[in-house]
Amino acid sequence: MAIIYDSTHRTFKLDTKNSSYIIKIYDENYILNLYYGAPIPDTYLAKREKRYPNASFSLANPVIGEHGFTPDTAPIEYGCNGAADFRISALAIRNASGDSVTDIRYTGHKIYTGKEEIPNQPSSYAVDGDAETLELYAIDAVTGAKVTLYYTVFADAGVMTRRVRVENASDKTFDIERVFSMCVDLPTMDYELVSLYGRHAKERHIERRPLAHGVQGVESKRGVSSHAQNPFIALAECGSTEEHGSVYGFNLVYSGNFSALVECDFNGTSRVLLGINPTDFGWKLAPGEAFDTPEAVMVYTDGGMGEMSRVFHRFYNTHLIRGKWQYAKRPLLINSWEAAYFDFDTDKLVAFAKAAKEMGIEMLVMDDGWFGKRNDDTNSLGDWFVNTDKLPGGLAPLIEQVNAEGLKFGIWYEPEMISPDSELFRAHPDWCVHVAGREPMIGRHQYVLDVSRKDVRENIWQQMYDVLSKHKIDYVKWDFNRNISDAGSAILPPERQKEFFHRFILGTYDLMNRLVTTFPDILFENCSGGGGRFDPAMLCYSPQIWTSDNTDPIDRLYIQFGTSLAYPASCMSAHVSACRRTGFETRGSVAMWGTFGYELDPRKLTAEEVAIVKEQIKEYHDTYDLVRRGDLYRLVSPFENKHRAIWEIVSPEKDRAMVTMVTFHCEVCGIVIAKLRGLDPQRYYKNEMTGEILSGAALMNAGLVLSGLSADDGESLTVYFTAVE
Ligand code: DGJ
Repeated sequence: MAIIYDSTHRTFKLDTKNSSYIIKIYDENYILNLYYGAPIPDTYLAKREKRYPNASFSLANPVIGEHGFTPDTAPIEYGCNGAADFRISALAIRNASGDSVTDIRYTGHKIYTGKEEIPNQPSSYAVDGDAETLELYAIDAVTGAKVTLYYTVFADAGVMTRRVRVENASDKTFDIERVFSMCVDLPTMDYELVSLYGRHAKERHIERRPLAHGVQGVESKRGVSSHAQNPFIALAECGSTEEHGSVYGFNLVYSGNFSALVECDFNGTSRVLLGINPTDFGWKLAPGEAFDTPEAVMVYTDGGMGEMSRVFHRFYNTHLIRGKWQYAKRPLLINSWEAAYFDFDTDKLVAFAKAAKEMGIEMLVMDDGWFGKRNDDTNSLGDWFVNTDKLPGGLAPLIEQVNAEGLKFGIWYEPEMISPDSELFRAHPDWCVHVAGREPMIGRHQYVLDVSRKDVRENIWQQMYDVLSKHKIDYVKWDFNRNISDAGSAILPPERQKEFFHRFILGTYDLMNRLVTTFPDILFENCSGGGGRFDPAMLCYSPQIWTSDNTDPIDRLYIQFGTSLAYPASCMSAHVSACRRTGFETRGSVAMWGTFGYELDPRKLTAEEVAIVKEQIKEYHDTYDLVRRGDLYRLVSPFENKHRAIWEIVSPEKDRAMVTMVTFHCEVCGIVIAKLRGLDPQRYYKNEMTGEILSGAALMNAGLVLSGLSADDGESLTVYFTAVE
């Protein structure tokens, strides 16, 4: 049983293989958190309810009396606004009287095997009943808000998920002002906050800082999860490392504005919140209506950041990514963008396909520029019909010729956008996101389409359906190239404008869901100016995401190391491009860590480069399974080492491994010794490069000697190991 209810102590214990989580129902039905950390057998831990009584004019509940318990310092399971818990609150409801005091108390619970879907939102799923769910029911007696706290325990995966539903059980409409997916009160602040910041072409760089008293955190107000911050944070125990120490990882299954906050109070405790950003959010709930938050994924491990990542990776591969392409072998693609940008026609694309086929590439993706009158980025978004000047006769002749070369065919869309210079905009100027009296901001010559509207979605759906249903299209790249400002919808009444951002994301999910369910054989790849929407929600629709527009392999080391904190290699799109900073081999070595592909003009490759590409493609097939199913070990991080990065991938059966080193600021040094991880110490492994056979114990303790690289920057070396029986 992963979830136990101890009725004597009125406690719940939720266990995964890595963690225990204990909730207590206290006097007056306050819901408290007694523990979250390494597994323990106990269902009750005494004296934790009244942490630090009366610390700073702390206030008491008059029914309980002033004998020690105060909401000010108690480990409140889901902190609410204005009822003597002064820390950042997870829930605030403004009631019909106009105040926003909110105070929820336990009323009951239900425990069951499995996990329900969140209505109209993406979330993780159980496989063959391998999850248990606790629904904790609570009510705010004054507003009549019925709150359900959902906890799903994936015991074998080492993961817990949480989410919240608020129902209006009163007879008056109220406003939800903030509703986080998750709240955790930890008893110390001896952690460092790890987050992933960035910008276009520099996504998900790792930042680590000690917690300080007060509120800190990361967020997005850009309408999407964003390049700037990812909806992921970790609290890493001070002194913990990649391999050792306590780490809590939190990731939000959401593609919109998010907030990940940590408040450290005067007693040195930490409250962690993760959910929809309350800024520019509000939701009116009429009697009988319900609001569901997105899901938060939580991982605790005492195995350091590395183990936290591996737990996320396995979980996302098996319990989040879905559909035909979750496990089916995905086609090796070449994308036209960096090869041609907008300058292509049928003949050029067919020539790409011919040259690509020679090297063993399996799919041609036609990127931006095939529709409307689009020859640059100034127009035509929203006009999803073929540009017959470029593609005479339409898509069919092109696809036939590409298929005749033996390649599959993929296409690019940016469905949530509209160019002012488009037929769609001329017909429906009010369909772009805007607010009354203000000229909307423009980015890359485009506005955002108001996909919170059903009629708008229907139009885009029809246009996409028309193309996708009539042609043999195997892949869709779904792009999104600006942030959302001037956020409002022409059809929402003034008192509901704050619902816009969330409604926009629900609209996106609706459109994506319709497409992936109508076209289950199409492989969808998400993209947002590179990796501006690289989040777990998008993984529910597209098993792979374009990691960054930056294809320079050295820059990519940082981006891929950062991305790998939460996201598996199976979803990290990585292409070899024409970028010249390193040789072809290193570009391949770095891209091999993700969903490998090419993004260059295959006709321009030298004979020597073609030979290397053929070798890379052979290696790609050999390692396909290892990379996608294997466990990642970040042996040397570019964020910590000035000279090199080294990573290792070990098969789940521990019978294969690959170790890659890339040097980027070479120092004169003979050899590098890398202590491998994750092997079976008892087994022997053959180094496929040297033929040397060493025990797993030797490779992990004495280490692997990496040598033979020249003193140039940007060199790479990959060593394969196979277990010998
Ligand atoms: C941004 C994407 O990241 C690129 O890969 C490419 O698809 C362009 N958009 C096309 O406009």
